[in-house]
Amino acid sequence: MPDPLRVHVPLGERAYDIEIGHGLLDRAGATLKARFPGRRYGIVTDASVAEHQLPRLVRGLDAEGLQHAEIVLPAGESTKSFTRVGEVVDAVLAARLERGDIILALGGGVIGDLAGFAAAIVRRGMGFVQLPTSLLAQVDSSVGGKTGVNSPHGKNLIGAFHQPMLVLADLDALDTLPPRQFAAGYAEVVKYGLIDDEAFFFWLEEHRAEIFAGGPARAEAIARACSAKTRFVLADEKETGVRALLNLGHTFGHALEAATGFSDRLLHGEGVSIGMVLAHAFSARMGLAPGQETGRIEQHLAAAGLPTKLAQIPGTLPSTSVLMDAIAQDKKVVRGALTFILTHGIGKAFIERNVEPAAIAAFIEEQRSS
Ligand SMILES: NC(=O)c1ccc[n+]([C@@H]2O[C@H](COP(=O)([O-])OP(=O)(O)OC[C@H]3O[C@@H](n4cnc5c(N)ncnc54)[C@H](O)[C@@H]3O)[C@@H](O)[C@H]2O)c1
Ligand SMILES: [Zn+2]
Repeated sequence: MPDPLRVHVPLGERAYDIEIGHGLLDRAGATLKARFPGRRYGIVTDASVAEHQLPRLVRGLDAEGLQHAEIVLPAGESTKSFTRVGEVVDAVLAARLERGDIILALGGGVIGDLAGFAAAIVRRGMGFVQLPTSLLAQVDSSVGGKTGVNSPHGKNLIGAFHQPMLVLADLDALDTLPPRQFAAGYAEVVKYGLIDDEAFFFWLEEHRAEIFAGGPARAEAIARACSAKTRFVLADEKETGVRALLNLGHTFGHALEAATGFSDRLLHGEGVSIGMVLAHAFSARMGLAPGQETGRIEQHLAAAGLPTKLAQIPGTLPSTSVLMDAIAQDKKVVRGALTFILTHGIGKAFIERNVEPAAIAAFIEEQRSS
């Protein structure tokens, strides 16, 4: 078995490694015992991931004689709630886990965000390890220390910055991930190329088929995505500046997710895919970016099985004014002007804090019918 790829996140006392490779969940017991001797573990996971991936983790922990409790939650975004965090915290306390013990977040971004947040608050902060099992979690949510849950008032409105102690991204976990979820995670991989790494975008164009087929390019794509995320986290851990570039496509995307009720009609990555195309198209419309690049981006995302147009969202979309309300709800509004991540072209995204709501509304109105 080839050595795992490793990305280091040098955050001083909170520095940690991200490992990307095969069989990491089977070997997690041995890895954890060597890195963090004498700890006990609370595994937090969801029912789908428990069915497919939990046995491998548990066998490895048992083989090393590591004590563990298991907390299995329902799968889905609605699990990312304050109520569920309370349940996890109580279960961790009921299992008599102490401050020096470790929470293992085994699952996609929902479990990573929720378990990380529980770890941040239980006993005033326990350590946690991310064991991401979705592509989205492996390339994005497990890295960077943003944890939290949703409120009835909106997504991710409750949370804390709490960095993991280690991230083990097991490539074998992706074998049981539904293909639609894989494609949705891939949108976030493409995002890193579009933000500031044109060469990575071109590399993805060449290696997309191999990445989807599970060849060696898959590990490389994940490692390059983790390095990119790490760069932004190091530059701006608490998102007061450049880390906001990671929101490329997300203001449109979140509004579309809200408009479809955060349901299966549109997965997060699918909203981001459409959102990135819209961000490029809008930038081109404003004369900021070359128009022909929008088509190139659209073609790449479509080849990956992702939607790129509003019309591809099943069902009826709410009116443009309802979408505009959702855009204004997205926490990036300052005194009536909208903040958007716009672009001068592939790999040249920038933060624009002065976008006219009327220009966006007119643009959306026109895009609905194209
Ligand atoms: N913290 C951050 O920086 C950050 C960044 C991006 C996204 N997020 C959050 O991440 C969440 C989305 O993450 P996600 O797309 O991973 O969603 P998810 O956790 O809901 O996982 C998607 C689905 O795939 C299933 N699944 C996951 N791994 C599997 C596997 N190996 N085999 C079979 N099924 C598997 C899950 O049970 C779920 O049904 C959102 O809540 C979003 O806000 C957080
Ligand atoms: Zn995202």
